[in-house]
Amino acid sequence: MALTDFDLVLFGGSGDLAMRKLLPAMYARDVANDLPPTARIICVGRQDYGQDAFLHTVETTSRPLIKSPAVTAEAWARFTARIVYVSLSATDVDSYGPLINALRPDPVTRVYYLATPPHLFSQICDNLAANGLVTPNSRVVLEKPLGRDLASAKQINAEVGKVFAESQIYRIDHYLGKETVQNLLALRFGNILFEQLWRREWISDVQITIAEKLGVGNRMGYYDTSGALRDMLQNHLLQLLCIVAMEPPTSIAPDAVRDAKLQVLRSLKKFTPTTLAQNIVRGQYRAGHVDGKAVPSYRDEPDAPEQSRTETFVAMKAEIDTWRWAGVPFYLRTGKRMADSLAEIVVRFKHIPHSIFNQPTSSFQPNSLVIRLQPDEGLRMNLMAKTPGDGMRLKPVELELDFRESFKSPRMDAYERLLLDVLRGQLTLFMRGDELEAAWEWVEPILNNWEQDDTMPIPYAAGTWGPAAASALIGRDGLQWREEA
Ligand code: BG6
Repeated sequence: MALTDFDLVLFGGSGDLAMRKLLPAMYARDVANDLPPTARIICVGRQDYGQDAFLHTVETTSRPLIKSPAVTAEAWARFTARIVYVSLSATDVDSYGPLINALRPDPVTRVYYLATPPHLFSQICDNLAANGLVTPNSRVVLEKPLGRDLASAKQINAEVGKVFAESQIYRIDHYLGKETVQNLLALRFGNILFEQLWRREWISDVQITIAEKLGVGNRMGYYDTSGALRDMLQNHLLQLLCIVAMEPPTSIAPDAVRDAKLQVLRSLKKFTPTTLAQNIVRGQYRAGHVDGKAVPSYRDEPDAPEQSRTETFVAMKAEIDTWRWAGVPFYLRTGKRMADSLAEIVVRFKHIPHSIFNQPTSSFQPNSLVIRLQPDEGLRMNLMAKTPGDGMRLKPVELELDFRESFKSPRMDAYERLLLDVLRGQLTLFMRGDELEAAWEWVEPILNNWEQDDTMPIPYAAGTWGPAAASALIGRDGLQWREEA
């Protein structure tokens, strides 16, 4: 669907996200000829750069990060001609003049992308409204963190909701923009094979892992007040869990999908202080080696509080109280400075009920489906097959689907896809306000418990799979994390 003309306004326009992700994503879409010729990107920042100095920053910061498609002088010139830099103070309603002058009138679609700290969301929305800049044809995009607990999430929803209708609000979770996440929808609802098996009778457990080799780097100011539960689990992991566990939506329409996800979030079994202690492990990395290189402990990273109790790792066993999923453990795990960088979902099926072969059922590896999001995108189905030759011995084999091999078409980064969806007015891959609140509501007892509890996260050496307690958590159920199996 061709895009109609737009002004994309990036608050936080000189910030890290704009430089690293948003501008490169828009460049890629420009090269793909998706952008209308007169569409513009208005970067808003506090600093009083002139237009030329700002473009110089884009040239030196953003351009070198664009690996694909390769940057040509001609395409770059066309792209940068779209960029306008506007300096204003987001909190000062009287400073919006330059933005008023830069925006074009209706019917040009206005998209306000708030890549700013969340405490500015409400004021920016109010100031846009007070300056008459919000039209029925306007949209607002909210970048994470979307609150730090239920109360702050509710406050964001209420305050942004005073200015924008829910149908104008795009809450970004970039994991929903990843190719494989949408492929999971295709797998579940584009094939007859899985739906009958996609339930407690046939599935033994589900593992969802997002592991990163990276540490906290220069984001300590944000990260130490957040931690892995808020930074990754409350949003990315729960969204993946929703896509795996939701009932078939009636269509791909935004509210059909979002209703189905909301039902999952509302069915997650609530933790009590006792179940929480038994089913959640939090860790913090210590010095170690990643890819053979020595890396410091979390507490020795620049600006880290000496006695920080912030978790850089969390693993948990969650359950969903529905007919489909009752009793099926969902093991969730995420961490920084882990042994590998990967994101994957593993759906493990039950053991065969009886062996007709001359081998015990215990020698049959249960079937499993591995859905890989990162680093490569693919699907792997583990099956049992006969070993060639005489006799009847079965052993595990893998059916592999590598998306890059199977589909030669050019790839899209998550932000490219999500930005296109915003510009098209397509809400399916964005969280609705009630979803956001339901996710925080479920996570909140964990946050409260940790706040009151003065124990420390369990230390783990950088470059490992986290504390041994995380292996014990799943080991208690006679299982292993996939990398440790
Ligand atoms: C972000 C987190 O939302 O996701 C970061 O704030 C994390 O801490 C990042 O590194 C991971 O995203 P990806 O796409 O690189 O797996």
